[in-house]
Amino acid sequence: MLRAWFILIAVSCLSFANKNVLKVPLYAAEKVYGSDLFFARNLTKGSETLNLKLQTHTNLAYYGNISMGTPRQHFCVIFDTGSSNTWLPSINCPKSNLACQSHKRYNSSRSTSYTPDGRNFTLRYGSGRVVGYLSKDTLHFAGADLPGLIFGESLFVQHFAFTSVRFDGLVGLGLGVLAWSNTTPFLELLCTKKVIEKCVFSVYLRRHPRDTPGGEILFGGFDRTKFEGKLHYVPLSLGNSWNLEITKTAVGTKEIGGKSNAILDTGTSLVLMPQESYDNLLKVLSAKVENGYKVLTCETKSLPNINILIGGKVFPLTPDDYLMELTLGRKKLCVLAIAPINRGFWVLGDVFLGRYYTVYDATAKRIGLAKAVKGGK
Ligand SMILES: *[C@@H]1O[C@H](CO)[C@@H](O)[C@H](O)[C@H]1NC(C)=O
Ligand SMILES: *[C@@H]1O[C@H](CO)[C@@H](O)[C@H](O)[C@H]1NC(C)=O
Ligand SMILES: *[C@@H]1O[C@H](CO)[C@@H](O)[C@H](O)[C@H]1NC(C)=O
Ligand SMILES: *[C@@H]1O[C@H](CO)[C@@H](O)[C@H](O)[C@H]1NC(C)=O
Repeated sequence: MLRAWFILIAVSCLSFANKNVLKVPLYAAEKVYGSDLFFARNLTKGSETLNLKLQTHTNLAYYGNISMGTPRQHFCVIFDTGSSNTWLPSINCPKSNLACQSHKRYNSSRSTSYTPDGRNFTLRYGSGRVVGYLSKDTLHFAGADLPGLIFGESLFVQHFAFTSVRFDGLVGLGLGVLAWSNTTPFLELLCTKKVIEKCVFSVYLRRHPRDTPGGEILFGGFDRTKFEGKLHYVPLSLGNSWNLEITKTAVGTKEIGGKSNAILDTGTSLVLMPQESYDNLLKVLSAKVENGYKVLTCETKSLPNINILIGGKVFPLTPDDYLMELTLGRKKLCVLAIAPINRGFWVLGDVFLGRYYTVYDATAKRIGLAKAVKGGK
């Protein structure tokens, strides 16, 4: 069961008046001890791959509600800045597919606004995949309607533990370059249909222990009450996705990584860094290995910040950000919420996005960052 952490949709709650700003509240998984799931994107060039790994942590994934069709069929989705396509389980998925059967399914025969597309699709997710066909219908979210969205109806979800994950599907917030050919992805359609005035969205995630987990995505602008100081804008380092350039990374006076691209990715729970930087980090932090986890002291006061230099400004990750607590049996462990990837770039997932409010500006091709407020609503 999903737990709704808060209910607020009213645009009138916003601290600024803009009729074209749409707010999607996000809510997080309930606290689970023992095992829960987290995402680590397995980046394979040119294709969209996600890897689901077993881990233990609280509020790992952030979900939002959408509905599709006329009348509306409701779904719980991940709004994913790391991909551009949207898919939902199909009513036509076989009974034999448990993963599909355990989630809500879209029934196009029940929708008067549905039109068929005729093409099939395959998305690779690490060693699993999602297969199905494309359809076109009206997506509803945050009180707005987005007609004519081409999305995937998945027939076959072979996705590790997809059976037990709480979301039904995915809404890709990435740029058009990553989308299926001859389709206009969610964000681009939202902007060309002028559902929002400014082609911008912002992500606020709450993840600190004293906060109620959850967050919000704001389409069409940003909410000043959710961050401190000014937004620090940097250009996209590559035009094709939400990424920026990290100039260097240091722990204390020790540089652990140099110039590197980084993808901002709400679909990944952790921060992923290139293997070499990761090895340097483990050394600097004197991490030990226990039960396969990289374990650090829980005395966070004795640990240094990881200082990430972006566009001339340092964005620190504090021990509170990069450590996660888990309980193995009776034992409390503090493990690193950072994992290595076998690539030359970083993935700044929810661990980073929980500390920094991020603004995604598709028109100016830039990303704005500022320290997120803690304890926000
Ligand atoms: C999302 O939908 C579920 C099921 O329809 C509902 O229980 C929940 O309150 C909704 N959450 C939000 C934040 O709107
Ligand atoms: C899909 O919707 C149609 C039209 O309402 C209905 O006849 C059909 O039974 C539905 N399919 C399933 C599997 O529920
Ligand atoms: C789509 O996939 C189905 C099997 O799932 C196949 O029967 C059909 O021919 C495919 N259509 C196209 C256009 O490739
Ligand atoms: C990532 O995906 C590729 C292609 O499916 C696979 O060969 C590789 O083992 C995966 N890497 C990880 C770390 O899971």
